[in-house]
Amino acid sequence: MAEQYRALQGFKDILPEEQPYWRYVENTASRVAEQYGYRRIETPLVEETAVYRRTSGEGTDVVDKEMYSFGDRADKEGNSLSLTLRPEGTAGVVRAYLEHGMFKMAQPVKFYYLSAPMFRHDKPQAGRYREHHQFGCEALGEVDPAIDAELIGLLYQVYAQLGLQHIRVYINSIGDGTCRPQYIELLKAYYLPLLDTACDDCKVRYYKNPLRLLDCKEPQDQAKIAGAYQVPFTLDPLIVRGLDYYTRTVFEFTSEIDKVALNGGGRYDGLAEVLGGAHTPGIGFGAGVERIIQELKRQNVTPPAEAKTRVFVVYFDKTEEQKNLAVRITSELRHAGIKTEMSYGDRSRKAQMKQANSSDATYAVLIKEEDLASGAVTVRDLQAEGMDIDNKQVQVKRENLIDYFSA
Ligand code: HAM
Repeated sequence: MAEQYRALQGFKDILPEEQPYWRYVENTASRVAEQYGYRRIETPLVEETAVYRRTSGEGTDVVDKEMYSFGDRADKEGNSLSLTLRPEGTAGVVRAYLEHGMFKMAQPVKFYYLSAPMFRHDKPQAGRYREHHQFGCEALGEVDPAIDAELIGLLYQVYAQLGLQHIRVYINSIGDGTCRPQYIELLKAYYLPLLDTACDDCKVRYYKNPLRLLDCKEPQDQAKIAGAYQVPFTLDPLIVRGLDYYTRTVFEFTSEIDKVALNGGGRYDGLAEVLGGAHTPGIGFGAGVERIIQELKRQNVTPPAEAKTRVFVVYFDKTEEQKNLAVRITSELRHAGIKTEMSYGDRSRKAQMKQANSSDATYAVLIKEEDLASGAVTVRDLQAEGMDIDNKQVQVKRENLIDYFSA
């Protein structure tokens, strides 16, 4: 027998069972990012090594020890470029911003990337992989600390909408002038899901003067105010980040439960110049999707389930005619947007029924010899329990099947 292979150490398959978590994080993150005016960007997985070496910085672990670098095939003159698999998302986005002249657009230009694979030859351990995926945002061309606050608020909102709790925000090197907008943004992120039940004045304050939310004297809002003082926000002079390009604001969010860093980010006002552009302020963050999913599991947040199979089509006798009809009905239902399955490989009626039951389908369509002439098929409710068989089954004309299952 030939040798069997396993995925490389630190690399992971993301199996179908895991996909609802990924989709939940991706849908939530992209929805929030777009509400904040960020637009999706995808940059190549491979860049010239210099793009990362010059930005993340010689002397950092990411550059010195962890990059997957290799020589490209030589050109006709025998020259070969050094290439690197993307270890982080920021350098590529800034390179693209400069390359496409986006500094000529209205500033800031705001991007997000989603489940973007990153490669670091890190020591594999819990929550640390050699391939991981990031949701990230980058805002280029603006120095106003309001954008720092916006990004932190956006990310906080993603975690809140995912249903995560006990998230703590650590920020370093923020002057007085920036504290207030940061706080206001967090305060607004905290209040947004509570607005429906807030008093009418608070609904106006939220837009006009959010700090006044804390002054409200209405009894119904007192619990909200008490909660707002718990927006976990800590100025932490000990935060240092593992990449060289950061300049002023740096921040990390951790889960209070296990102290794991869910994301990292900050300002990188000098990065564009290093890549040959004009001085361009920038700020962003990257959040590890694997870390977010790990945290969702720890906090028992379950993502919306996958759509269930609605119909399983079963043909009773292994005749060509019945099977053809089964294939036709299956594809008609699928084209009408109804999730439909049938079994393959000419299985017996009993084996097909068994598959239908274990597929957790809501209905079975049963095709029998006598139905071929009548133009109708039997529809059995597979979820109805305890009823006798006649109450679980109805005859439905073929031309009415789509309507029957769409209802
Ligand atoms: P970073 O802190 O190196 O920053 O990575 C961001 C996040 O990616 C981490 O907080 C963590 O959630 C996740 N992460 C990093 N390494 C691994 C790993 N080996 N396994 C699993 N997850 C990991 C950056 O990459 C910056 N580009 C972030 C940024 C964007 N700063 C400004 N804009």
